[in-house]
Amino acid sequence: MSPDREPSARVPCVRVEREAGERTRQALAERGLLDRDHEIVSEDGWLYIPVSDGEALASEFEVVERAAPERERQTTPADLLGFEPSYERLGEVVLIDEDDPERARELAAAIVESDIPARAVLNRASKIKGETRVREWELLAGESTEALHREYGCEFALDLAAVYFSPRLATERRRVTEQVEAGERAFDMFAGVGPFVIPFAARGAEAVGVDINETAIEYLEANAARNGVSERVTALCGDVRDVAAAYEGWADRLVMNLPHSADEFLDTARLLAGEECVLHYYDIQPDDDPFGPGERAVRAAMEPTYEVHVENRRVVRSYAPHEENVVLDVRLWRV
Ligand SMILES: C[S@@+](CC[C@H](N)C(=O)[O-])C[C@H]1O[C@@H](n2cnc3c(N)ncnc32)[C@H](O)[C@@H]1O
Repeated sequence: MSPDREPSARVPCVRVEREAGERTRQALAERGLLDRDHEIVSEDGWLYIPVSDGEALASEFEVVERAAPERERQTTPADLLGFEPSYERLGEVVLIDEDDPERARELAAAIVESDIPARAVLNRASKIKGETRVREWELLAGESTEALHREYGCEFALDLAAVYFSPRLATERRRVTEQVEAGERAFDMFAGVGPFVIPFAARGAEAVGVDINETAIEYLEANAARNGVSERVTALCGDVRDVAAAYEGWADRLVMNLPHSADEFLDTARLLAGEECVLHYYDIQPDDDPFGPGERAVRAAMEPTYEVHVENRRVVRSYAPHEENVVLDVRLWRV
């Protein structure tokens, strides 16, 4: 030990044979149970993996207390590259957006070599496209495009190559979720893998999610089970215009997150809405009038069947130069 290094502290560690080390480390990392402040120790063919909650793991693993040195400051991709790269993290999958293939490979190598947890590095290979809004990705490191993402206490498994997902909407989803009350009936018309439906159900709502993408619906069902809310979640695969009739007049809350074409589905929203209903209507519009087109479309579809009150107009994020992704929270009362 170097003279100025802290003496090793005794910490709970999972003890596994060296061959099972990486598999176990990954499983613990996915569950957020790694103690990243201490080093993994290798001794006599065994690995000792420091964990943050030894008691929680004691029934599944051999957990022992032992000395493990504190980790030195973590090496970042910027330390290795000499500049600050831009990347996003979705659990242990790292997302980059680099057009130059050489730079993309360099960046991926630095991410893998650094101390940030990275099971895979994916480079954007297309825009979001088509009905299912899925992007193509180039897998630069790792073996799978599947990620496990945590958001405000919920966990979402998803395959980026097969479904739409954006971690950038987490704060917006939280804002909407905080309005949800136990017992209410919430319908997400474009549900994806469930990032609205599952936290709604976790607050006690009865939640229905529809998606035209079969893989998204499979993940939604799996994510409902993963988060212990299956009994309050119904997942339906299909075009929402075709499945809506079974839920006529049902919804206390509607989510419409299909920003480029939500206006084409407002007749379906009117069919689904109950006596009183809150509609979260997402739109992408030029920044000189970001809310006007959505509000006019909602009024044209809902009036005079419903009295329409726009309670909130909010910019969610900048989408492109001079284009905003916005949301209208609209309260509807049947006249
Ligand atoms: C922008 S994504 C939003 C997904 C999810 N709400 C989220 O925030 O991650 C839109 C979703 O709508 C689905 N979709 C597109 N057209 C649809 C339709 N006609 N009926 C049902 N779902 C549709 C796509 O497959 C996609 O998963």
